[in-house]
Amino acid sequence: MARIGLIGHGYLGAYVYEQIQTRPKLGLDIAFVYNRSPARLADLASEHVLTDLADFAARAPDLVVELAHPDITRQHGTAFLGTTDYMPLSLTCLADAELERTLLATAQQNDTRLYVPHGAVIGLDALSEGRDLWDEVTITMKKPPGSIDFSDSPDYSQEDIKSETVLYNGPTRAVCTHYPRNVNSHAATALAGIGFDRTRSILVADPDLDVSLIELSARGGGVEIDIRRANPMQGVSGVMTLLSSLASICRVKAPGAGLHIC
Ligand SMILES: NC(=O)c1ccc[n+]([C@@H]2O[C@H](COP(=O)([O-])OP(=O)(O)OC[C@H]3O[C@@H](n4cnc5c(N)ncnc54)[C@H](O)[C@@H]3O)[C@@H](O)[C@H]2O)c1
Repeated sequence: MARIGLIGHGYLGAYVYEQIQTRPKLGLDIAFVYNRSPARLADLASEHVLTDLADFAARAPDLVVELAHPDITRQHGTAFLGTTDYMPLSLTCLADAELERTLLATAQQNDTRLYVPHGAVIGLDALSEGRDLWDEVTITMKKPPGSIDFSDSPDYSQEDIKSETVLYNGPTRAVCTHYPRNVNSHAATALAGIGFDRTRSILVADPDLDVSLIELSARGGGVEIDIRRANPMQGVSGVMTLLSSLASICRVKAPGAGLHIC
């Protein structure tokens, strides 16, 4: 059984924990669960609760999964990768080029892996496989303003949005600092494809929407990819992201017998 350390016990983290606990056939075991507010963990088995993240290695995780906040990677990412494999869901922090370099160097030195889960993005495998082909990659995201966290926005607050509004249109690197809780799918697209500076991000707030829309396109070498997905939202996360988070963990750490989509 692969031992999984979970950071964050909100919408995504609680789902992954519950699935690992109730589906032993997944072949996964809980190494620990850490959450900033310990009250959220009151109903968990006490042996699963980690009170100080600095003690993570004592629980011997085979994989640490962050489903909490980008600060976790900034503060602990190198410690995780110095010991074990790491999968952050809050990928926008990797738009910090220095942090990305440090994490990858740590993984190289310690023979560990930094996993980028596809999260909300469909087709990330093809985008990654064709990364040497693409002349341009664009990800467009349209969301209702209530599903967007405007706290770091330089230009807008939620009350400003009365009709469809383009919040950002430019290289992916900057949108990650302006809307860090909302554009993890943009960061995943940049990491899989042609990077944070060459990938184009468009973020749109639309009060008439009740779902999150993602459109992904890639062009190059005569190849054209166009993908569109609509996904109901819960807070900042989409419903399909529950399924994809668990599936990414299973893909890398639970290679049980039977059918595998690769
Ligand atoms: N990669 C993707 O496609 C993708 C998709 C959806 C969400 N996300 C990201 O995943 C993360 C979790 O999403 P969610 O919908 O479950 O959020 P949520 O708000 O429901 O849950 C977050 C949990 O983490 C805890 N937390 C917050 N900051 C923390 C910190 N610094 N240390 C420890 N615990 C902390 C909170 O108390 C809460 O229990 C978010 O950062 C979100 O942006 C990524």
